[in-house]
Amino acid sequence: APTPIIAIDGTAASGKGTLARRLADALGFAYLDTGTLYRKVAVDVLRAGGDPADAGAAIEAAQNLQKNLDLQSLKDPAIRTAEAGKYASVVAAVPGVRSALTDLQRGFAIHPPALADGTPAKGAILDGRDITTFICPDAPVKFYVDAAVETRAQRRHKELLGNGEAIEFEQVLEDMKIRDARDMGRKDAPMTIAPDAIVIDTTAMGVEAVVALAMAHVRTVL
Ligand code: C5P
Repeated sequence: APTPIIAIDGTAASGKGTLARRLADALGFAYLDTGTLYRKVAVDVLRAGGDPADAGAAIEAAQNLQKNLDLQSLKDPAIRTAEAGKYASVVAAVPGVRSALTDLQRGFAIHPPALADGTPAKGAILDGRDITTFICPDAPVKFYVDAAVETRAQRRHKELLGNGEAIEFEQVLEDMKIRDARDMGRKDAPMTIAPDAIVIDTTAMGVEAVVALAMAHVRTVL
């Protein structure tokens, strides 16, 4: 039987990562936060003294990442900064970057790595912007997670402050609007809502309610 796959897309700070992690833990699935790949590409270019807006440099970094992916390196706190998020969406608009990371993501979905305790994963869960539409269009379970932009900016602001980053709310809100527009407006794999995705608006929902709603759907399908 094919590996069960749960595909989740959604806007920045919509709660898709929290949902993905909770589902992965509950179901014993391996989880890949695909945004970390684009963030890592941006950080690798910056660390090499390059400009993330330079498509050639970004493609080279993405190709290196695909060749030598170490899942541990995606836990680098440097990829969680506001700067990394901003430049991630810049490199993510480059078609050569996206294509370099496609096989890696599909490979994870089809052959998920063992869980942290060494047990085989029972399935794969990936979240991002083009998982339901492009990376895993045949996934049996798809969610699209969104929330009001002000709510998302508040969540991200809190997270950044918690990480010790001094940044104004207005700046976070502004960056988020720019990022949404870039992610939805790019030519290559723009973020759209898959027709068969279950849409969850988390603006007025707590984490437990979101997880319960998603889990009820998962149980009917898998
Ligand atoms: O989800 P996160 O905010 O970490 O993603 C950072 C950026 O990476 C997004 O704004 C988006 O431009 C890009 N991305 C993407 N496709 C994905 C995941 C993330 O283009 N599947």
